[in-house]
Amino acid sequence: MKIESVLVTGANRGIGFEFVKQFSELEDPPAFVFATYRNESTVEDLKKLQEKSAKSRVILIKLDTTVQQEIEEARITVEQTLRGRGLNLLVNNAGRGLSGRFPNITQDQLLLLFKTNTVGPIMMLQAFYPLLEKAASNSKATEMSTSRACVLNISSVNGSIQKTGVDLMYWYIPEYKISKAALNMGMRIIAANVRDKGILVVNVCPGWVKTDLGGKDKGHITPEECIGDMLKLLPTLNKTQHGSFMDRMGNRYEF
Ligand SMILES: NC(=O)c1ccc[n+]([C@@H]2O[C@H](COP(=O)([O-])OP(=O)(O)OC[C@H]3O[C@@H](n4cnc5c(N)ncnc54)[C@H](OP(=O)(O)O)[C@@H]3O)[C@@H](O)[C@H]2O)c1
Repeated sequence: MKIESVLVTGANRGIGFEFVKQFSELEDPPAFVFATYRNESTVEDLKKLQEKSAKSRVILIKLDTTVQQEIEEARITVEQTLRGRGLNLLVNNAGRGLSGRFPNITQDQLLLLFKTNTVGPIMMLQAFYPLLEKAASNSKATEMSTSRACVLNISSVNGSIQKTGVDLMYWYIPEYKISKAALNMGMRIIAANVRDKGILVVNVCPGWVKTDLGGKDKGHITPEECIGDMLKLLPTLNKTQHGSFMDRMGNRYEF
């Protein structure tokens, strides 16, 4: 897998940070790793990574994915940095969790989760679509792949309609489940729309990861293990997984 450029949202901590770390430490790393953060006070670790990174240019971009103006500014920064080249990989990672329960769902919480976990990633994809399209058409490859042009959405098995009420606790964090189910649907619709453009779109659950969101003392795997697996999955992705929803090993969920 040789990815020239990648953008990871929510990269200042957790899974997003580990993506940036492991991408920049690859034997043959991307030339450009765009890492987004919301708050200047949270970029200390990213800055250390930026200084240490020998082969990749790690570029930090301030971005709240729920603010359209910031998405547009981020797109301009990426476009200017890439100078006519497209963006190969967009990792829609930024997300928010919440532990509400029916019958105490509030409109504010539901909308906040929907805005962050569903609307943000869709707006990101839409804004970066021309850059992804450029990467796909500039590529010598004719098949869909992560190296050519890809959108990797960090979804969750909690958004699985099929599993909710069967394997998954139905009463647990409804706002989060609803927002990830909607993300999966949104990305499935977009996948169908971009099928002919050579842009691969996939939704992947990272597993239960020891982060602030997953619970640092609760998760089953560390961010290191999670991204280690993800980086093994990425080169295997192709058109047969376009628009699908899977775990980090590539096993499919039936939505
Ligand atoms: N951890 C798990 O077990 C697990 C399981 C399934 C899926 N996931 C998914 O994996 C992704 C990453 O989660 P994580 O576990 O790494 O969580 P985390 O440690 O809580 O990190 C979340 C990241 O998203 C950022 N973020 C939140 N809202 C944002 C917004 N509006 N704009 C831009 N960035 C925003 C945060 O930025 P700030 O630092 O500024 O808040 C932070 O960088 C999420 O989409 C989550 O749903 C996680």
